[in-house]
Amino acid sequence: MIELIDIHKWLGGQEVLRGVDLHIETGETLVIIGRSGCGKTVLLKHLIGLMRPDQGRILLNGFDYARLSTPELYAMRRRFGMVFQGSALFDTMTVAENVGLGLREHTSMSRDEIAEVVSERLRMVGLSGLDHQRPAELSGGMKKRVALARALAMDPEYVLYDEPTTGLDPITADMINELIKCLQAQLTITSVAVTHDMKSAYKIADRIAMLYQGRIIFSGSPVEVRETGNPVVQQFIQGIAEGPIECR
Ligand SMILES: Nc1ncnc2c1ncn2[C@@H]1O[C@H](COP(=O)(O)OP(=O)(O)OP(=O)(O)O)[C@@H](O)[C@H]1O
Ligand SMILES: [Mg+2]
Repeated sequence: MIELIDIHKWLGGQEVLRGVDLHIETGETLVIIGRSGCGKTVLLKHLIGLMRPDQGRILLNGFDYARLSTPELYAMRRRFGMVFQGSALFDTMTVAENVGLGLREHTSMSRDEIAEVVSERLRMVGLSGLDHQRPAELSGGMKKRVALARALAMDPEYVLYDEPTTGLDPITADMINELIKCLQAQLTITSVAVTHDMKSAYKIADRIAMLYQGRIIFSGSPVEVRETGNPVVQQFIQGIAEGPIECR
């Protein structure tokens, strides 16, 4: 279980996170929704320890991130796999080299052992045989799947998805949602996805939390989100310009 307690973060002269309280239960798929620029990626970076809060605590099974030494922080990060916004694949490497990157850098596995894990992960995401392609030769949906295979390569306990469906056509987006659900059912992982795609949120979430003005203002099941009387949540999920959310 991960707990975020009163997280504050200043970036570029503004307080992006203004007291985030959130817990992530082991085994669940939590989807964090919120407008573009509200701090979703910043929040994910705190979860994986790429950013440190200015104030507040993050606990992983009760251990405070702030108390971890640098080697312990690196060890903690290995428990996470992250699918970055825009996939963040290395164009100079093949698909297999991208997927095997963490294994090459952080384990003592042999080339053959790495190749075996890479093939297995590519099979899981439906991309068997594409090992030698370069990311530039792939469609956006295929890149997302390679990014997913890379996130899963080190057998993470937690998988973080940053906008897994953004920029994809509706059918490809649905295939990615199905894949996320299928992996969640097959593997013992806890997933956190951030998105502003409500269709995706409803499809994959056990629980949905909304980030607004630097805080989690609502959290509940997909049904509870649909039925809430919270006007900010309703405006967001219905996607209407008129309402309490300040539109810039
Ligand atoms: N390293 C940084 N330095 C300065 N400002 C930053 C930095 N990272 C993020 N920000 C600012 O923090 C705010 C939140 O950014 P973030 O990327 O978390 O938004 P987001 O919710 O992920 O948006 P999107 O849905 O468009 O991806 C933005 O105003 C952004 O400019
Ligand atoms: Mg983002």
